Amino acid sequence: MNTPLTEPLLEARNLVKHYPVAQGLFKPKALARALDGVSFRLAAGGSLAVVGESGCGKSTLARQVTMIEAPTAGELRVDGLDVAQASREEKKRLRPMVQMVFQNPYASLNPRKKIGALLDEPLAINTALGKAERRERVLAMMERVGLRPEHYARYPHMFSGGQRQRVAIARALMLDPRIVVADEPVSALDVSVQAQVLNLLMDLQEQTGVAYLFISHNLAVVRHIADQVLVMYLGRVVESGPKQAIFDRPQHPYTRVLLAATPSIEAGGHRLHVPIRGELPSPLAPPPGCAFHRRCPFAIDRCAIETPLLALHDGRLAACHRVGTIDQ
Ligand SMILES: Nc1ncnc2c1ncn2[C@@H]1O[C@H](COP(=O)(O)OP(=O)(O)OP(=O)(O)O)[C@@H](O)[C@H]1O
Ligand SMILES: [Mg+2]
Repeated sequence: MNTPLTEPLLEARNLVKHYPVAQGLFKPKALARALDGVSFRLAAGGSLAVVGESGCGKSTLARQVTMIEAPTAGELRVDGLDVAQASREEKKRLRPMVQMVFQNPYASLNPRKKIGALLDEPLAINTALGKAERRERVLAMMERVGLRPEHYARYPHMFSGGQRQRVAIARALMLDPRIVVADEPVSALDVSVQAQVLNLLMDLQEQTGVAYLFISHNLAVVRHIADQVLVMYLGRVVESGPKQAIFDRPQHPYTRVLLAATPSIEAGGHRLHVPIRGELPSPLAPPPGCAFHRRCPFAIDRCAIETPLLALHDGRLAACHRVGTIDQ
């Protein structure tokens, strides 16, 4: 069945993930609100970047989208199908469509397997292809990601971080996925190698039409690769929209803080340089009202009481009572 044009390839509606956390022997369990109602859409061939501080829920979101975990509430739709309602057969079809690239290429590749075997594995498990044909596909993929044929028989420890991440990307692409979730895919790499791997990801997207959900705490990286940006704070979306709007005219104070803290992005004359205060609060006890209000230089009384909802402003969604009233 073809997906109608209006249906996004991936859609999250109010995704919630709460983890029960033990507090001690006789205390009731607390809930870590890792994701607290996240919604977004990803179009076929698009790139959505998810940004935010450590602990804001980015990897939790990745685990829901890749179907590694089931959300506590909310809806995840892949290729028009509600994952929670999908039959076993449908899930079997959906799973290979969404693949993942992890942050640490040293930990994500089995050190006992040669590169050829690592890349062969997804094909051997999921397809009926014969050995010779699989080998051909593996070698073709290796070439696409910039690995040489002689690398086929080498082990991961014989490679640099950048080369290993090429292997991880190749492995994610072996089954022709429509979505790749990349969780900080260049953060563990030398700065000199980061741009090469990002360029590779963009070339591969151009060739295959794969869509990226790209997670990064580094806005300079996001500026390179994303067309849409989702800014998260303590399990919620605080601002989301087209990259240009978010980078050129950030509206949420938190987005401004993140941008101001990104060294390689030159400051525009109109951008406010606001220092970030304090630490990310615990998801076990999120502050009332706007979760950012205690750290926000623009907070007013209302922010401590009333949770701001996402609303359209200047071409993007922002959840802030002060939107439009702070000087640019
Ligand atoms: N299995 C779990 N049990 C309990 N709490 C969890 C679990 N997984 C994540 N959390 C909590 O949920 C919150 C979000 O974690 P997550 O790993 O998604 O953040 P992140 O944005 O990916 O951070 P980082 O940038 O450091 O990778 C954190 O407070 C974390 O401690
Ligand atoms: Mg993470």
